[in-house]
Amino acid sequence: MADLKELQGKFLELFGGSADDIETYFTPGRVNLIGEHTDYNGGYVFPAALTFGTTMLIRARDDGRLGLASTNFPDEVKHFSMEGLVYDEGDGWANYPKGVVDGLKKAGFAIRSGYDILYHGEIPNGSGLSSSASIEVVTGYGLLSIEGHEIDRVKLSVLAQKVENEFVGVNCGIMDQFAVANGKKDHAILLMCDTLEYDLVPFNSGEYKIVISNTHKRRGLVDSEYNTRRAQCEQAVADLRAAVPGLNLLGELSLDQFEAHAKLIKDETVLRRARHVVEEIDRVKQAVARLRADDLESFGKLMDGSHDSLRDLYEVSCFELDVLVEEARRVPGVLGSRMTGAGFGGCTVSLVHEDSIGLFRERVGAAYKERTGLEASFYVADIGDGAKKL
Ligand code: GLA
Repeated sequence: MADLKELQGKFLELFGGSADDIETYFTPGRVNLIGEHTDYNGGYVFPAALTFGTTMLIRARDDGRLGLASTNFPDEVKHFSMEGLVYDEGDGWANYPKGVVDGLKKAGFAIRSGYDILYHGEIPNGSGLSSSASIEVVTGYGLLSIEGHEIDRVKLSVLAQKVENEFVGVNCGIMDQFAVANGKKDHAILLMCDTLEYDLVPFNSGEYKIVISNTHKRRGLVDSEYNTRRAQCEQAVADLRAAVPGLNLLGELSLDQFEAHAKLIKDETVLRRARHVVEEIDRVKQAVARLRADDLESFGKLMDGSHDSLRDLYEVSCFELDVLVEEARRVPGVLGSRMTGAGFGGCTVSLVHEDSIGLFRERVGAAYKERTGLEASFYVADIGDGAKKL
């Protein structure tokens, strides 16, 4: 957790004035436990909010200007007018808050003031732990609160996703924004992405901990490959419509329905993609049922199944993720291990007995280094709350 006194000092150094009117907000990152590449197919996901994320210090200014700074990019304060904000590649990370201000205004929220904002991000960029959703949601949550608007977390998630899709130009689903806005300490979120109905499920893992392992591999292909996967899923739906008129999303099909009509999908690759989606949605349902029955061992096996399917059928894993998962599964006391997030780099998530964590770091770290030449890092994750005022 960030040192708030220090951040306040930094804020005053950058923006001057007094600390009296500074408000502080926080939004976590997320880890997805199971249900990958199902959100934009209208299926289930099962993410959890982390305890680390993005802290935002914000103070109103009366000249209609927006001042943006981040401790992660220490030498720059960026200034904009609150009016007519547009995406500019050169603005880098600042496009997220710019997009949120623009999105709130377009959604009809009166934003009366200008603002100075300092961010402090603890989520490694490109790690697949949703640093972008975190900065979007903390900005939206903070601005709505400080302007006195009522906050509907579900609507805020949808607005943040829209900002990412339309302002930033990344065609993501709803999972990340939803998880970081709606998370609850010690609970994972079973979200039906089509209807946005959700259930907070207690995550009682007893002696087992969630361990996140970072490949530190930059996610090169992720945007173009992500869009290709989306298009392949749409192709599968178009093919299946011959038997299921009105079908919109793969998530509307049961496993049996899918099997009955799978032969309508002529393209081999498209068929594999669709099979992953339908089976993964089914795995989420089974996993939540097993968790509710305190059967963590089966939960872990389903995590393994999820990874294998992402690797073989959906083909969004990569060598580094596969090595981390393979090595993790060799360690005694590991119930399951899989990639988390979009793939092509980023992190894995494993369920590890608390007595095995030292061994896990040691063995997986050494083998990973030897096989990839890269240094992994490991976080033992607790599940925290979604967006909040500090
Ligand atoms: C990224 C996207 C999410 C989701 C995952 C894959 O994190 O932002 O919407 O599609 O990939 O499950």
